[in-house]
Amino acid sequence: MTADAMPAVAHEDPEMLALMATPVAGQAATLETWGWPGVGLLHLLSSCHGGCFFCSNRTLVEMPAELVTTGTTVEARLAGLETLGLDLLCIGGTEPTTHPRFEEVLARCAAAGIATEIMTSGLSLAVPGEAARWRDLGVARVAVPLYGPVPGLHDAIVERPGQHARVVAGLDHARAAGIDVAVHTLALRRTLGGLAPLARQVHARWGSTLAVAPLRRKDDLFRYEDEAPSWRELASAVGDAPVELVGFPACAATGLARGGAAVIALYFRTQRLVHAAPCVGCDARHRCRGVVPAHLEAYGEGELTPWSAGSESPP
Ligand SMILES: C[S@@+](CC[C@H](N)C(=O)[O-])C[C@H]1O[C@@H](n2cnc3c(N)ncnc32)[C@H](O)[C@@H]1O
Repeated sequence: MTADAMPAVAHEDPEMLALMATPVAGQAATLETWGWPGVGLLHLLSSCHGGCFFCSNRTLVEMPAELVTTGTTVEARLAGLETLGLDLLCIGGTEPTTHPRFEEVLARCAAAGIATEIMTSGLSLAVPGEAARWRDLGVARVAVPLYGPVPGLHDAIVERPGQHARVVAGLDHARAAGIDVAVHTLALRRTLGGLAPLARQVHARWGSTLAVAPLRRKDDLFRYEDEAPSWRELASAVGDAPVELVGFPACAATGLARGGAAVIALYFRTQRLVHAAPCVGCDARHRCRGVVPAHLEAYGEGELTPWSAGSESPP
């Protein structure tokens, strides 16, 4: 991992960074405490061909060979995989499907009876036959982002014309092949108007509840306060559309459910979170990891609403 390929470490959660660098055999105790028993996480660095304004840089698009996760590292992370009794291996990273060892890892999991969940842009799934091949290699679920219900919005965010059509085709292929489809999006000012229609589309077309995640700070790419909406704006934009929030504190948009695929929930744990003054004495604190400092800088503490166990609507 390098400062250029990945977000600034200052904004990252050290515990999560350590977990990503730990062999799968050493992750069980932590992941069980976090609510994921029987789960492992493999993080792969390789080129991603998206141009997402909040993430992409030259290093990611054409990753220099020396930054790509080496075969030796993959072997070390998966040492003893077959004997760990895992149910699921989450495979995340920059775009794991472009990693030279991707299919080998799938085959190894399949042989060991371990299902896999893949974090991907979904573009490869548009290639005819690819989804069925992944299913045969034991892929149980794909976690794919969509940033709008119509091509214009999604393609503008990923800065690649034509990608919306490919992602939609890929998700259709995955569903038809029997792979579970988990779709997520980001709460962005630019996409607020599309959130409710996107959630309804995702539900109707792929039987999936749209997971909505917060923007992560990446200073050299955008100004957080220009791009991230307040939680009030988010709740009002979603209305009664079927969504689940992932990566938000307990008191953000309390009327909305929480959820999200494991690989996505884990990805959003990489943000460094803090508790603020209103969190002192909040009865939800034991199950709330806190808020990103960027949100406090942009919106202050006014949106943090401590919960009292006696109140009617717990966050
Ligand atoms: C790092 S990407 C890797 C998987 C894949 N290449 C993709 O495009 O989804 C995983 C997820 O990270 C999220 N992501 C990347 N940069 C982000 C940021 N600055 N804030 C919030 N989410 C971000 C995207 O929504 C994306 O779905």
